[in-house]
Amino acid sequence: MKTLLTPITAGQLQLKHRIVMAPTTRMRTVQGGIPGELMIEYYRQRASEGGLLIAEATAVSPYANAYADAPGIFNDRQQAGWQKLVEAVHARGSQIVLQLWHPGRQSLPELSLGRQPVAPSALIARETYGVAKNDNGTYEGKLFPEPRALETDEIKQPIDELQQAARRAMAAGFDGVELHAANGYLPEQFLLDGSNQRTDSYGGNLENRARFLLESVAALTNIWGKGRVAVRLSPSGIYGDMHDSDPTTTFRYLVAQLDSFELAYLHIIEPRITGPEDREAGYYSEPVASRDLRPYYHGKIIAAGGFKSESAEEMLKSGDADMIAFGRLFTSNPDLPERIRHDLPLTAYDRTTFFGGDERGYTDYPVHGALASASAL
Ligand SMILES: Cc1cc2nc3c(=O)[nH]c(=O)nc-3n(C[C@H](O)[C@H](O)[C@H](O)COP(=O)(O)O)c2cc1C
Repeated sequence: MKTLLTPITAGQLQLKHRIVMAPTTRMRTVQGGIPGELMIEYYRQRASEGGLLIAEATAVSPYANAYADAPGIFNDRQQAGWQKLVEAVHARGSQIVLQLWHPGRQSLPELSLGRQPVAPSALIARETYGVAKNDNGTYEGKLFPEPRALETDEIKQPIDELQQAARRAMAAGFDGVELHAANGYLPEQFLLDGSNQRTDSYGGNLENRARFLLESVAALTNIWGKGRVAVRLSPSGIYGDMHDSDPTTTFRYLVAQLDSFELAYLHIIEPRITGPEDREAGYYSEPVASRDLRPYYHGKIIAAGGFKSESAEEMLKSGDADMIAFGRLFTSNPDLPERIRHDLPLTAYDRTTFFGGDERGYTDYPVHGALASASAL
């Protein structure tokens, strides 16, 4: 029996297997960032076998969004849409946590009520694009403008927005929340010295740079208690023009601090991935992987990034992680856990339909023929 298919308890989450659906932005909400029928169907299809789904990056603020048609959770209509989606996932026996997302300097004013993006420092995310939507409905990649540095007394505002979103996620019936502290978004902008040049108590030394992230986690655990809050990190990520002078020390310190929160899990993107893409070989000189952080954190770890069935199994056997998240393969294999269970071939994904569009490349990937005919018997 594959280790991947054995049950696990992660904080308060009791899961029947260790195959997790990674958060994947698909830009398929209906007007106003509301999960609609199409999106509900997408998650319903992937909620098989009692596993864990991590819902895609979801805006916590009307003033901070990077992708047109990405979901939000800052008003009642969005919350109601999520509630239906969560019910559909629960009805199939799986659990779902919501990824809470404040993109900070990676925000487009045209998706953020015209506001200039905010960040720890007025440093632009060079060569990084968001996706806006034109009047005729077509999408357009847009460079992020220069952000405005938050005043010290403004810093509680994004933390409040994260906390308010966590309250709404609870009201919508989610099983937990995951702070998106990866891929160059606001918590990571504070953490890394390449994007944080502050001289107040939120910048400078490592303790200060980690403060925003840790205060955000504290705000979420205030709402959810122990075992239902999670954090996603990309310790080797450079997506969003991110860099740090000493990532090993930075992430070891952070992870050791996170240990005391009794999280549901820590979610780590492995060095072979940056943002949504595979990394060019040799691109990063000092990768920080789950293996490097494991000794500093005693809870459950989800590893993500470029895994296939065999490599996922090896990762669990090595002891460096407890669960494996699959991103791209879950887009094209709604029945991924069953396919892994029965060693069935996997359907290749189509990148051209990743971001935005209709049911094509979204809800029209079939379950494997062998499984479909078995369930029809
Ligand atoms: C289409 C797409 C959308 C993504 N959206 C998110 C997201 O919303 N939040 C996030 O943390 N990571 C996001 N990612 C990164 C994935 O969660 C994952 O880390 C990455 O795809 C590597 O895993 P994989 O090799 O299994 O696909 C996205 C990736 C893709 C391909």
